[in-house]
Amino acid sequence: MNLKEKLTHPVFSLIEKVADRNRHQVYAVGGFVRDLLLNRPCADVDCVVMGNGIELGRELCEEIEKKQGSKPDLHEFGQFGTCKFEFEGLEIEFVGARRETYTPGSRKPTVEAGTIEEDQWRRDFSINALALSLNKATFGDLTDPFNGIEDLQNQTIRSHRDPDQSFEEDPLRMLRAIRFASQLFFDIEPETFDAIIRNKEHIRSLSAERITEELNKIILSPKPSYGFKLLDAAEILPVIFPELCTLKGVETRNKKSHKDNFEHTLEVLDHVAYANGNLWLRWAALLHDIAKPKTKRFEEPRGWTFHGHEFIGGKMVPGIFRRFKLPMDENMRFVKKMVELHLRPIILAEDIVTDSAVRRLLFEAGEDIDSLMALAKADITSKNREKVLRYRNNFVIVERKLKELEEKDRIRNFQPPVSGNDIMEYYGLAPCAEIGIIKTRIKDAILDGEIENDRQQAWALMLKTGEELGLSCPKKS
Ligand code: CTP
Repeated sequence: MNLKEKLTHPVFSLIEKVADRNRHQVYAVGGFVRDLLLNRPCADVDCVVMGNGIELGRELCEEIEKKQGSKPDLHEFGQFGTCKFEFEGLEIEFVGARRETYTPGSRKPTVEAGTIEEDQWRRDFSINALALSLNKATFGDLTDPFNGIEDLQNQTIRSHRDPDQSFEEDPLRMLRAIRFASQLFFDIEPETFDAIIRNKEHIRSLSAERITEELNKIILSPKPSYGFKLLDAAEILPVIFPELCTLKGVETRNKKSHKDNFEHTLEVLDHVAYANGNLWLRWAALLHDIAKPKTKRFEEPRGWTFHGHEFIGGKMVPGIFRRFKLPMDENMRFVKKMVELHLRPIILAEDIVTDSAVRRLLFEAGEDIDSLMALAKADITSKNREKVLRYRNNFVIVERKLKELEEKDRIRNFQPPVSGNDIMEYYGLAPCAEIGIIKTRIKDAILDGEIENDRQQAWALMLKTGEELGLSCPKKS
């Protein structure tokens, strides 16, 4: 097979020229070739050189300078024999072909110069072990010693060598197998899958950062539930995410059952993914019911209840983020807020939708109101069509009211029209409880629609409340 038609980026003809002139043998390998065959966009190219990768990188950058007048920034990593630079939207990395030998019990391989085939052999899966020649005589020729093309056609992730050995060498490969399956919607070949189950405990030796990078890629895949079901079937889920496992199962008492919260959570996550939700909204979907097992009670006549699971769930978010070494910043606070508020739109939609309730929701969600509505919609997974229709209709009413009230009252970025400072200055007060009482009274009046979000009306209410509290303006007396 020859893929020269697909090698349209200008860097490839430059590599061809320099490599032939200086007699380097060079191949594009790994993910770039896989993605080229799958017509997936790929922004980085790994090139394997028979010989010195850094030397070819330097020569290529000089050639680019001769042609274009400016030289790309070449980053060299001498101890690994690699270098990389960016050119016209692609990141290009060069490395010498390697043979890796492992001594049993050690994860550190002995690395020596090798042939292209040895370099392909040491890679994780057959679909990642394809090589594409970049030299003139064979430009675009594909080298596929382990039937990677066939696996791509059969949509299969397969370790082309002993998977136990491969996973022992680098346990991350087990998560990568599931991540690729989830991103590409591929199967994992049975022997490879069985080896994952056998080697799952090795996952514990990986750093949280490496696990999280793969987990985020699963979460970002088109149908993330598939990846999570594979993690579960491979018995990896209890190792990396025990809280999700406790969501599994259905309990029945007095003929009353609750839903399987694991299945429900994955359905909500898929809904958010179909609606193109970003990574953090997907995390919020994954964690929205995380405290259900902790809050589960059986009460007659209602049956199963999960009172307060949204607040307890919100409290669990920072701990889970810390464990996965996810950022403890505004993204974590966003996820926490989404978990805490996720029931609010549906509670609102269950009742008569009043202006006051919609204003309060808008006030609490602020700028994140659209994300919260998206999560709440995704959370409707009932099999009862009538119920689903009722919720959907009410959501339309909530959304219309949100828009109307936002235009009128600007609650989304609520700034009190009379500030604490205004109150202190007018009454000549030092910080005290009365200031809070007046501020809350004004805020509630705006949210309940008693007054508009307007300084004059708020000022009048301040005067009235001040009088009720026995305050007077010192300047007047
Ligand atoms: N590789 C490997 N074992 C690993 C990681 C990587 O054998 N644990 C090899 C594979 O051949 C892989 C290549 O190194 O294709 C490049 O790895 P990387 O850039 O991490 O992944 P990609 O396959 O390019 O996929 P993606 O960019 O989606 O992460």
